[in-house]
Amino acid sequence: MEDLSPRKGDLDPIEIASRDEIEALQLSRLKWSLRHAYDNSPFYRKRFDEKGVHPDDLKSLEDLSKFPFTMKSDLRDTYPFGMFAVPREKLVRIHGSSGTTGKPTVVGYTAKDIDTWATVVARSIRASGGRPGDLVHVAYGYGLFTGGLGAHYGAEKLGCTVVPMSGGLTERQVALMADFKPRIIMVTPSYMLSILDEFRRQGIDPRESSLAVGIFGAEPWTNAMREEIEHAFDMHAVDIYGLSEIIGPGVANECVETKDGLHVWEDHFYPEIIDPETGEVLPDGEMGELVFTTLTKEGLPMVRYRTRDLSRLLPGTARSMRRIEKITGRDDDMIILRGVNIFPTQVEEQVLKCAGLAPHFLIELSRAGRLDTMTVKVEAAADATDSAARQKAAAQLIHHIRSTIGVSAKVDVGDPGSLARSEGKARRVVDNRPKR
Ligand code: DLL
Repeated sequence: MEDLSPRKGDLDPIEIASRDEIEALQLSRLKWSLRHAYDNSPFYRKRFDEKGVHPDDLKSLEDLSKFPFTMKSDLRDTYPFGMFAVPREKLVRIHGSSGTTGKPTVVGYTAKDIDTWATVVARSIRASGGRPGDLVHVAYGYGLFTGGLGAHYGAEKLGCTVVPMSGGLTERQVALMADFKPRIIMVTPSYMLSILDEFRRQGIDPRESSLAVGIFGAEPWTNAMREEIEHAFDMHAVDIYGLSEIIGPGVANECVETKDGLHVWEDHFYPEIIDPETGEVLPDGEMGELVFTTLTKEGLPMVRYRTRDLSRLLPGTARSMRRIEKITGRDDDMIILRGVNIFPTQVEEQVLKCAGLAPHFLIELSRAGRLDTMTVKVEAAADATDSAARQKAAAQLIHHIRSTIGVSAKVDVGDPGSLARSEGKARRVVDNRPKR
């Protein structure tokens, strides 16, 4: 694969500024952000007053821990526009995250927020190895979801040519890629696997495609999946993270030259890791729940927003800004099986170790009598469909899951193509256990 390390002169100076400079900027922006939230959002004023804190109490970055957390339920409780810090007329865009139950959570952007967002996504694409003039195929969904339009504005801002495909119509996606020859694709990793199947179905060698970089996010994925995709397409696979409440994609991104976790764009988003049980701030390096405070957002400032994503903060490498380790999962995706905590990413790693299996999987939980059981549904690889090969692959996966995760699982090896394909965020777990 090509060496895509960027030239230092192409970076925003703040990306490689000293820690002192970054922290000084964060402190002045944080003061502004807390003041803006307090003065303009009755929600935050009430919250701060209840906790007995005032924006003037913030003298150092550490003082942020005195301020109250914000959660997804706060957005639901104030649905649709109750948390905004500007009049609705000043918003130029609304997005929302679908949520599995009930109403979406609604987020809003001023014109300046849209520009900030485009800036951090442009920076993310550049960190991934993108350059002005690249053709960028966007297969994240367009609509209320932030993926499509977030990627789109960022790519335009970097000076790229955007193909706004959105998700779905996979056959057409592949045909257009063959014709337009994009250098970059932005898509969920699970949908990239569906696209891979379609390349093969159309008899096109994915390694011969024009793609040099894939920028994958919106759902957890592992380094094992990175290897799988990089090998299949002979391209770089880079991780992009974000969430609608904070801005959308582009809160953090890996650098293609190191691929060692995601640099948080700390000049706009201040990260903390907390103990999810006690709310206590944990030192860098420790695993816990990721919390973000926006430093520049006008429409919907977020103070100490609890993401429920689990990761740890690490020092900067390719940039001065700190990194988050690849997200293990969300606490609400965690499976508790007979007392053992399991994340779907752990299962993904084991599936990808088995040569006779395709990289698709679905975890089904059920209860037999008083015992919870986990069945991992997978597919035979195209060249390993006879029954001996399937049995061997199943035995291998059962063994790997037992020895690394510590639970016994059933494995069901179906035909190639038997599992539902993702067109966006994959559904990894079906829980059929009766609710307690
Ligand atoms: O998924 C924004 C996004 C779009 C990010 C495109 C990257 C690319 P939401 O729909 O609000 O926003 O979902 C946010 O998705 O809290 C994580 O649980 C998960 N997530 C997003 N990126 C990653 C990632 C978008 N790179 C939620 N790795 C977040 C793991 C991710 N999980």
